[in-house]
Amino acid sequence: MRRFDNKVCLVTGAASGIGRATALRLASEGASIAAGDINEAGLQSLAVELARMGAPCMVIPFNALEEASNRALVHRAVEQFGRLDVLCNIAGACRADHFLDIGLGDWERMFSINVTSLVAICQEALPHLCESRGNIVNMSSASALCGAAYWSAYAASKAAVASLSKCLAVEFSGKGVRVNAVCPGGVNTTLATTYSVPPDVDAALVRRLFPLLPAAEPEEIAAAVAYLASDEARYVTGVAFSIDGGQMT
Ligand SMILES: NC(=O)c1ccc[n+]([C@@H]2O[C@H](COP(=O)([O-])OP(=O)(O)OC[C@H]3O[C@@H](n4cnc5c(N)ncnc54)[C@H](O)[C@@H]3O)[C@@H](O)[C@H]2O)c1
Repeated sequence: MRRFDNKVCLVTGAASGIGRATALRLASEGASIAAGDINEAGLQSLAVELARMGAPCMVIPFNALEEASNRALVHRAVEQFGRLDVLCNIAGACRADHFLDIGLGDWERMFSINVTSLVAICQEALPHLCESRGNIVNMSSASALCGAAYWSAYAASKAAVASLSKCLAVEFSGKGVRVNAVCPGGVNTTLATTYSVPPDVDAALVRRLFPLLPAAEPEEIAAAVAYLASDEARYVTGVAFSIDGGQMT
């Protein structure tokens, strides 16, 4: 499939996990890739892989916690490639705490990376996406759709991502821009395997979140992102697309 021939795709979180898999998938289908992340070594490794595939690519280090950095990310991508067709907001962070122990600073940091960064990036990208009649795919989470004990900051931030996606889908429908969210369950990535859970949690409450199927690989989530970002999904907008091994079933 060459669903992204002549398309320019900006992918955040592209240094690892789902973002990296998405950049590689879109490039394998013809896209030019602007890849953003805070992890410069991971971006360089991606650039080597994309060069091997012959895919046009630029890497853009950015920090989701800084407004100017978020906005510059889009400017640099458009400056390089002259247009923008697809924005995949995939960078994100996760933490687990007892609700009573979360400092407001940590809560705000979670929202800053997972939500406010997307707001700034979408604001910069949308005028270009209106021109190209492009689309946005935002990375939410299965935890956005259920009660997730100990993950309140993360889950609430991802619920905000799903809601933001629906709001933008409605507001920009008349401009020909589609906006969707993806809600993965457990995916084998650094994020899923490295966060720590407080030692004294109630295991039964955590088990409520277990999917029916073994964890997904990043490439399986990337395939869903690629579908939503492609013209095959012309009639799909404003969805929170679950790909969660039956977690919400
Ligand atoms: N892995 C899962 O089980 C799972 C489930 C649901 C949703 N998600 C979401 O998928 C997305 C990708 O996560 P992943 O699982 O591939 O993990 P990952 O850790 O491999 O990728 C996250 C990426 O975000 C980048 N990032 C983090 N903070 C940043 C910052 N301040 N500025 C710029 N970049 C920053 C990291 O460097 C990393 O490359 C996240 O939004 C995550 O919440 C993951």
